[in-house]
Amino acid sequence: MSKIFNVARGTADILPADIPLWHEVESKARLVFKNANFSEIRTPAFEETELFARSMGQTSDVVQKQMLTLMSQNAQEGETSGLSLRPEGTASVVRSYIENSMDRKEPISKLFYIGPMFRGERPQKGRLRQFHQIGAEVIGPQTISPLLDAQVIAIAVDILKRCGLNGFKLKINSLGSAQDKENFSTFLRDQFKNHLSELCPDCQNRFERNVFRILDCKVQTCRAVVSNLKLGISHLSDDSQQYFQQVMHALQNMGIAFEHTPTLVRGLDYYTHTVFEISDPSLGSQDALGAGGRYNDLVTLLGGPQVDAIGFALGMERILLANATREIPAQKIDAFCVFFDDNSLAKAFALIQELRKYDVSCDMSFRLSSVKSQMRQADKNGARFVMILGDEELKEGKVALKEMATGAQTKESLDNIAQLAQLIKKGS
Ligand code: HAM
Repeated sequence: MSKIFNVARGTADILPADIPLWHEVESKARLVFKNANFSEIRTPAFEETELFARSMGQTSDVVQKQMLTLMSQNAQEGETSGLSLRPEGTASVVRSYIENSMDRKEPISKLFYIGPMFRGERPQKGRLRQFHQIGAEVIGPQTISPLLDAQVIAIAVDILKRCGLNGFKLKINSLGSAQDKENFSTFLRDQFKNHLSELCPDCQNRFERNVFRILDCKVQTCRAVVSNLKLGISHLSDDSQQYFQQVMHALQNMGIAFEHTPTLVRGLDYYTHTVFEISDPSLGSQDALGAGGRYNDLVTLLGGPQVDAIGFALGMERILLANATREIPAQKIDAFCVFFDDNSLAKAFALIQELRKYDVSCDMSFRLSSVKSQMRQADKNGARFVMILGDEELKEGKVALKEMATGAQTKESLDNIAQLAQLIKKGS
């Protein structure tokens, strides 16, 4: 018996019945981006592994444990590191920004992307190995402004709201400049050094390599240690504190509810200053709908000009999970053509070809079957009209047009397809 193949672990088919919901989320996001003057960018699904390692940080979980690296059997000359499927969009967008000298073309590049990302994680509800992000990156010499931080957060919130979500929570924090981050990690090591034995083995490792990550560890004993810390924004310089206050003030002015969460540090190394996360408690353990923040040093770290940047990414699967009660709008067609014999089959075939030229969505059965079964098919396809090509109609050069909702039936000439198309599309 031949092997039956299944979808790979941690990936999922998006079946036709679910596609309308995906389109709905995508089109809402596109509209929000259009309103805010963002342009779309599409980068490849894989890049040099080193690009991700350098930007997200060698010690981040994504780089350490989740990279899906391609085993290329014919590595090309000049390829210094291997290739990996992109685990996120930021590094690729920054690579493209630098490669295409966007800083010389515009003072501020507002870019968005929608597409699949890949992480070799242990799959569970809301956590996949191939998932989809709606992301935005604002990069350029003129992108340092607390108002811009607030606006980027507002865009993420707007997309979620337009997708029908209301129960989410926005947490924000500031990591400050590179120097502030350094001071913060010294402070944290100082705090944790007397509690090392209470920390989980992962956090004991993180103590040296990436002390920030101890703050968002989910292990109970680590949480207990963290909850005793007195955290605020005192590790930030005066300038960084002032900047963060202005971001919070701008959010308040926009009526966007948030919580300042001093333990929010994010798992990727590139962040500086404002960081944020949007979570929905209805999602269970994988509750982050999206996240983002500033990354003012990343462009230079990747060899580009000294420009600042901020962005976010929302997880599409999680948006849809949080909105699981929404009814899926069924796909409908304008018309379905019913025929009776081989002669009318040929006519029906020609008719639907013609109507499609006028953007009438229409279909037919391609095999001779009973009228009853063809009508059932029309119904299943949500056809608004059924076109019937019976003997009588054919003799007269006409087609019977039945409106499914009302049952009203008329006879229309086949001489003027443009007119027929107009009639069918009216009220669609
Ligand atoms: P991230 O927090 O790694 O940030 O991912 C953003 C969102 O992608 C998450 O909040 C979640 O909704 C979704 N996501 C992540 N991993 C998975 C997964 N395995 N399965 C399903 N959904 C997932 C970033 O990716 C940054 N690049 C965001 C950013 C853009 N920061 C600045 N600009």
